[in-house]
Amino acid sequence: MKSRRLFFALWLDEPAARAAHQAACEVAERTGGRVMRPESLHLTLAFLGNTPEERIAPLQRLAETLATSAPAFTLQLDYLGYWPRKHLVWASCQRLAAPLGSLAGGLNERLQANGFPTDRRPFHPHVTLLRNVRASAPALGEVPPIVSAASQFRLVESVPQPSGGVRHEILQCWPLLGAQPPAPDDAPAAA
Ligand code: 2AM
Repeated sequence: MKSRRLFFALWLDEPAARAAHQAACEVAERTGGRVMRPESLHLTLAFLGNTPEERIAPLQRLAETLATSAPAFTLQLDYLGYWPRKHLVWASCQRLAAPLGSLAGGLNERLQANGFPTDRRPFHPHVTLLRNVRASAPALGEVPPIVSAASQFRLVESVPQPSGGVRHEILQCWPLLGAQPPAPDDAPAAA
């Protein structure tokens, strides 16, 4: 049975992705590591991992119902941190915005209720900026806010590449309530 490696995420809008990438390049000058491409920058709301293909339709239905009640909001990234065990530098928010907590919480609750395996650890929203960071303890912390419109969430597949990296393939996007509809040339594209 074929399975696909899936997650739900918010993608940073273009100005925020550019600013976050710039911040990542500055940190990388001190720490080394692999800087994530701006168009790949995202915040994972729920990680599913390997999912049988026939479970994708129920996943889409579950997201559809959530999207009818989840409002658009502004994501404010104002803190950089480092996870030594995972060798990651990430951006996060010092205060969890209520609509972000509800969106991630609502998704994870629905996933659990429908028998999908989810991460039961507390939600730690983060956007990974650098991977393979080997510096012992980069001094990070508070940064001027990077602001992104959170106007839709996506179901995304991680497709392993022969090079060893992954390509993110968007399976579906759901607009959040009250978001401006995207301009025609703003249509989501694979990162
Ligand atoms: P990360 O950036 O901290 O690695 C696709 O892998 C997305 O799902 C990434 O944002 C990744 O977070 C996140 N994720 C959450 N839990 C994961 C897990 N157990 N394995 C791989 N990725 C995970």
